[in-house]
Amino acid sequence: MADFSDVFAGKNVLITGGMGFIGSNLAIALVRLGANVLILDSMIPDYGGNTFNIAPVENDVRVHDGDIRDKQLMNELVQGQDFIFHLAGQVDHVLSLTNPYPDIDINITGTAVLLEACKHHNPAARVIYTGTRGQYGPAVSLPVAEDAPTHPKGIYEISNLTAEKMIQVYHEIHHIRGVLLRLTNIYGPRAQMKHSRYGVVNWFVRLAMDNQPIKVFGDGLIKRDFVYVGDCIDAILRLAVEERAYGEIFNVGMDQPTNFIELADTIVRVTGADGWEFAPFSPERKAQEPGDFFSDITKIRGLVGWSARTSLEDGIRQTVDYYRRHKAHYW
Ligand SMILES: NC(=O)c1ccc[n+]([C@@H]2O[C@H](COP(=O)([O-])OP(=O)(O)OC[C@H]3O[C@@H](n4cnc5c(N)ncnc54)[C@H](O)[C@@H]3O)[C@@H](O)[C@H]2O)c1
Repeated sequence: MADFSDVFAGKNVLITGGMGFIGSNLAIALVRLGANVLILDSMIPDYGGNTFNIAPVENDVRVHDGDIRDKQLMNELVQGQDFIFHLAGQVDHVLSLTNPYPDIDINITGTAVLLEACKHHNPAARVIYTGTRGQYGPAVSLPVAEDAPTHPKGIYEISNLTAEKMIQVYHEIHHIRGVLLRLTNIYGPRAQMKHSRYGVVNWFVRLAMDNQPIKVFGDGLIKRDFVYVGDCIDAILRLAVEERAYGEIFNVGMDQPTNFIELADTIVRVTGADGWEFAPFSPERKAQEPGDFFSDITKIRGLVGWSARTSLEDGIRQTVDYYRRHKAHYW
């Protein structure tokens, strides 16, 4: 990770969704960089929040148990913040097929509440938002650059795209500086491991650690880019401190893709599990499967020199090692 200590030391930082997977890894990194970290998280059951996630820094962060949609609360929490990392969200894209309201309510309305709070109570704050590569929908050409068309295939993805566009409007019209990231599949320590509806890599790791067969859908040759969470945090921080990034959209992914067979092979090798097997797509997975996807990272590499440094093998090794040590908190 680049050295950001000069930038974040003594800075006030709010992380919405900071008890979740990416937010907690970010909180730990920011505490180590000397920031004053405030976490807002509603800890909705079955979502990604886990108090153990922030164990290494539990005495060095303030945690507010509250909801992003609470206007009064957000008006208070944004005050005095130098950076607001907005990671709170409903992230289960399978759920959004059957019930669109949590996405609309939390991801869209929640983002509006945050932006209004900034407008009225802290217009100088910088807002960093993590959207998803799913905002593109199926790739028209590969790798997918930021100016590719967006045809999201689900309400989750639409809600992220809408949040992104709202942040752009507040950037342009109300001068609340915002930077927009579109993350690919992120994996690693501190993701929830109880169900299969979040990231596929962590779920495969869980199956392998339980010695259950990993099920690779279709022919397993679909191309995808998987980024280790440490690299993702590095990207978030590099963009947050780069003034020229504000108002812009950046892919956070890999231009060297892998496929699901390579992924399953790697996980089996690292864990020593018995193996994996092919399985047909479930109808809901099939409906949302965009086919080959990997990210063009020319823009982020050019502006802040970022590319993912962790190989799939190393990332899986670190992930497995973490869950072997802390299984009791995630299973
Ligand atoms: N993990 C990925 O691969 C990935 C990929 C693309 C985009 N993203 C985006 O990054 C962000 C963080 O994702 P994550 O993987 O860390 O998810 P996560 O579920 O682990 O974390 C989200 C956190 O938000 C909290 N939260 C949910 N609703 C809330 C509310 N109403 N008020 C306050 N807190 C609330 C949850 O309790 C949870 O701790 C999300 O916006 C997600 O869409 C993640």
